[in-house]
Amino acid sequence: MDIINSLKGKEKVRVLFVCLGNICRSPAADGIMRAIVEEHNDGERWEIDSAGTGGYHVGDLPDSRMRIHARRRGLELTHVCRKVRVADFDDFDLIIPMDASNESNLHRMAQTIEHEAKIIPMAKFVDMSLRYDYIPDPYYEGAEGFELVLDLLQNGCANLYEIVSKVIK
Ligand code: 4NP
Repeated sequence: MDIINSLKGKEKVRVLFVCLGNICRSPAADGIMRAIVEEHNDGERWEIDSAGTGGYHVGDLPDSRMRIHARRRGLELTHVCRKVRVADFDDFDLIIPMDASNESNLHRMAQTIEHEAKIIPMAKFVDMSLRYDYIPDPYYEGAEGFELVLDLLQNGCANLYEIVSKVIK
């Protein structure tokens, strides 16, 4: 991926995870990625955040179901919901949507080709299953949907960490 190679030599990489509501998938990705970075004692090199393309839950903590499932894996999700803003395209190096709808919304918001190049779908980093080329919205699902999202995100974030770490300083 060209955009990943373009991070070569950077001291810090800034990653924004994006979903629709910013209360289920992207705050989970945000919490998982922070935990991975912390495990590697690598907080200096990573800036991590998440946001939603929709504004229905702005100011809220993540969905209580997602918080419960994440807690069972040792993760406390404390992100406060916010909407994606145009400035995010300058403030972050990688902008990572969870599904095709989030992706097309981001492409609509992007102002330049450079902004568009920063958008890489989360599923590109997932290699645990060929069944998912997107991270499915768990909002109207049961426990299985939340567990599936966490499995996909733990796999994808671990790969994202490895891939980017090899490129940056
Ligand atoms: P998320 O899930 O995009 O993973 O945060 C959703 C949360 C809320 C809604 C839809 C999806 N909603 O319609 O309120």
